[in-house]
Amino acid sequence: MRDEYDIENLNPRKDPLNSKVDLRNIKADELKAMDLDAVDTSPEAPDSEPQRQYYFMAKCRQHVRKEALRLGRPLTCATVTFGCQMNARDSEKLAGILEAVGYEPTEEEAAADFLIFNTCTVRDNANQRVYGRLGEANGYKRHNPGMKIALCGCMMQEEAVIQRLRKSYPFVDLIFGTHNLYKFAELLYTSYEAGRMVIDIWKDTDRIVEDLPVQRKYPFKSGVNIMFGCNNFCSYCIVPYVRGRERSRRPEEILGEIRRLVADGVVEIMLLGQNVNSYGRNLEEPMTFAGLLQEAEKIEGLQRIRFMTSHPKDLSDELIEVMKHSAKICRHLHLPLQSGSTRILEQMNRRYTREQYEELALRIRREIPDIAITTDIIVGFPGETKEDLEETMEVVRRVKFDNAFTFIYSKRTGTPAAAMENQVPPEQVRQGFDRLLRLVQDTAREQVARYQGSVMDALIEEVNGNDPAMVTGRLSNNTIVHVPGDASMIGKLLPVSLDECHGFYYIGHIAE
Ligand code: SAH
Ligand code: SF4
Ligand code: F3S
Repeated sequence: MRDEYDIENLNPRKDPLNSKVDLRNIKADELKAMDLDAVDTSPEAPDSEPQRQYYFMAKCRQHVRKEALRLGRPLTCATVTFGCQMNARDSEKLAGILEAVGYEPTEEEAAADFLIFNTCTVRDNANQRVYGRLGEANGYKRHNPGMKIALCGCMMQEEAVIQRLRKSYPFVDLIFGTHNLYKFAELLYTSYEAGRMVIDIWKDTDRIVEDLPVQRKYPFKSGVNIMFGCNNFCSYCIVPYVRGRERSRRPEEILGEIRRLVADGVVEIMLLGQNVNSYGRNLEEPMTFAGLLQEAEKIEGLQRIRFMTSHPKDLSDELIEVMKHSAKICRHLHLPLQSGSTRILEQMNRRYTREQYEELALRIRREIPDIAITTDIIVGFPGETKEDLEETMEVVRRVKFDNAFTFIYSKRTGTPAAAMENQVPPEQVRQGFDRLLRLVQDTAREQVARYQGSVMDALIEEVNGNDPAMVTGRLSNNTIVHVPGDASMIGKLLPVSLDECHGFYYIGHIAE
């Protein structure tokens, strides 16, 4: 869809007068291949989605072209992403639309004509980083008054954030949330027309709009949303409030997307959801996550399948069986523990006990011995004692996590835990956190070193940032390996010899 859009050639590829297309007559899955310059934007916008968004992409494109002609150069855009894989995938959707309307991507935020921050609010430090970056952006805008600044993502779903932005950040042009991301093209156009701050936040949605453009960060791997939202309401967590209720995409949409990605050069996919183990429960024709994996496995040309995240309470025996016999599902399971104290787990509303977690993790290790199990742990949840933390450390010693992300509990307004009275003093949290961190690092180092001297397949992902004579690859179990090589190897699955373990990664060489 992309025009060869240099300044010598700012005209549409086709003569729009000869080839006006009414989007109402185009089927959803044909829209991506459409020439936006041929769209008839004289009638009212269509009501149906995604046709309506393509109509606004065509309108935005006219605006961007006009601006580029006026300035004598193409317009540029930068997308800055905070938070999880889900947000990273959303940013690829934003980038897809920005490119479709004629912006050229740039890494140089300060010089961008359109700068968008896709935000996260899972812990307070995520929010603080956004405010910091916004302050910097205000500086860029003073030098470049034509710059447009937009904010979207999870943080925007919080009323208090919107109030603060309205009051103290008047230079922001466009603000929207997680539920109306699919309307980005329409909102962008509204913002061009309005010439003042545009805010559009929805409380929730049950809508999933398919077939919008996406610009992938990597040509050879991609995230694929299988579900949106979360129904678990862990008592510390804000995600269910900012991402809404759980809804699954239909399997045919997911599998169709994977097939198209594979045809476009993708060899590894990561299926994304806050709790992939409850996939498919709310579909008209229910399907299990394990069932979906089996279907994905059949797709020819696809070499690796990853997924994220698994809630322990919903992990089925069927999933373990499917993983065990699969040639494509990676030997990696991210299984957040959060706490090893049953008392705290109950307060967290996690709905499993320490014993159930251990039994599950150890059973998976028995069934699939070469699997890597990674986890998330929160330190300092209200009421957590030294004894509770000791129990968490005991689980770490028994399960021997291959990697663990440890977080200091962050109070999120509106969650049940924020109203709990027995918040833990910061000094105690800090000490506990440091002890736990040392333990998980020791355990992880030991686990990663298990494979020293063996040969495993690595998907080569990039040229090493520090040493251009080396490339960086990822093993099925998610461990990183650096090997001598060059850019021609990127995207290939190659056998590597794991020569030296350096804590969390290997230095190796291509094995022939
Ligand atoms: N859906 C995923 C997690 C998404 S959030 C799951 O259930 O596993 C990623 C991680 O952030 C969580 O696993 C948790 O460890 C951490 N987290 C969430 N809310 C937090 C809070 N209020 N304070 C500290 N860490 C938090
Ligand atoms: Fe948050 Fe729990 Fe949902 Fe994960 S499962 S997103 S931790 S509420
Ligand atoms: Fe953050 Fe939203 Fe993901 S709060 S962790 S970006 S779902």
